[in-house]
Formats: sequence, C-alpha cells, structure tokens
Amino acid sequence: MGILDLLYKEHRLMKRALNVIEVASLHLKQGKEEAIDPMLNSANFLLHFSVGCHQRKEEEIFFPMLHNRGIPTDILEVMHIDHRAAEDYLQDFIVTLIRYEGDEHRLLSALIWKASGYLWFLRHHLEIEESIFFSRARNLFSNKEQGMLLEQFARWEMEHCTYCSWIATA
Ligand SMILES: [Fe+2]
Ligand SMILES: [Fe+2]
Repeated sequence: MGILDLLYKEHRLMKRALNVIEVASLHLKQGKEEAIDPMLNSANFLLHFSVGCHQRKEEEIFFPMLHNRGIPTDILEVMHIDHRAAEDYLQDFIVTLIRYEGDEHRLLSALIWKASGYLWFLRHHLEIEESIFFSRARNLFSNKEQGMLLEQFARWEMEHCTYCSWIATA
C-alpha cells in the first residue's frame, strides 16, 4: 500500500461517518431519538480523526510534498482554508448536537441544518482533493516515494496520534 491508497482509505472512513450522520438526521426527523447515539459517535470520530489526524498529516506532510513537486502554493492554500472551514462547520454542528442531547429538543431543525451544511462541505472538500490532488499525485511520486511518504505518515501517527492505530484494521 502506498500513500495514496492510505489517503483514499481515510477518505472512505470519513465518508462512511458522514453517511451515518445523514441517516441519523433522517431518523431524528422521524422522531427516532435513538439516532442521536450514532450521530454523536460519528461526529466524535470526525473530530478526532479528520480534524485531529488526517488533515494535519495532509498539511504537514502531503501538501508540502505536492508543493515540492510544483503544485502552486495558492492552490494548496485553498485546501488549508477548507480545512479550517470544515473544523468550524463541525464545531458548530457538535455544539448544537450536545445541546440537543441535553434535552434542548427545540433545536432539531437547527441540528439538521448544521449537519447538512457540514455534510455538504466535507463531501465537497474530499471530492476536490481526490479529483485534483490525489489523481495528480499518482504521476508526481514514484511507487518508492509513495512508500516513503507512507512511512512518514506512520512516524507522524506514532508521535502525534494514538487514535489512528485502529485504521490499519478498519
Ligand atoms: Fe483535506
Ligand atoms: Fe483529505
């Protein structure tokens, strides 16, 4: 497995969590309160994994490597801006989710609205990364370099993120 396989795999995990949030939103609208648990679990996963790990590895390792291979800074800067915006969307969604769970059920419409905004934004971001950066990176890095990048990711995880270790088995 090379770095791109891992990045695609991490995106798939995030998309799966987004799908869970989408289904949970539908269920909450139908009055199925038990949907709050999977929604909370997925939001929590995205906070730790997407914000706390995946985005940081992209910003600290992957994007600088793309820049070294000629991808302009301003294009990569858009991805950094996207990451900060995705964090804001998620934080806003989680604040509302926690209030809703704490019995503020009048916030249902706001919760659904914030969930859908976050879903739309992150799905769009993942799509852009895959179609513009991941596909291009296949030609920018040899298989050997992709393997070396993978090792850098693994070292980063050992130093910064205990949350990622289960990814290997996901
Ligand atoms: Fe990203
Ligand atoms: Fe990504």
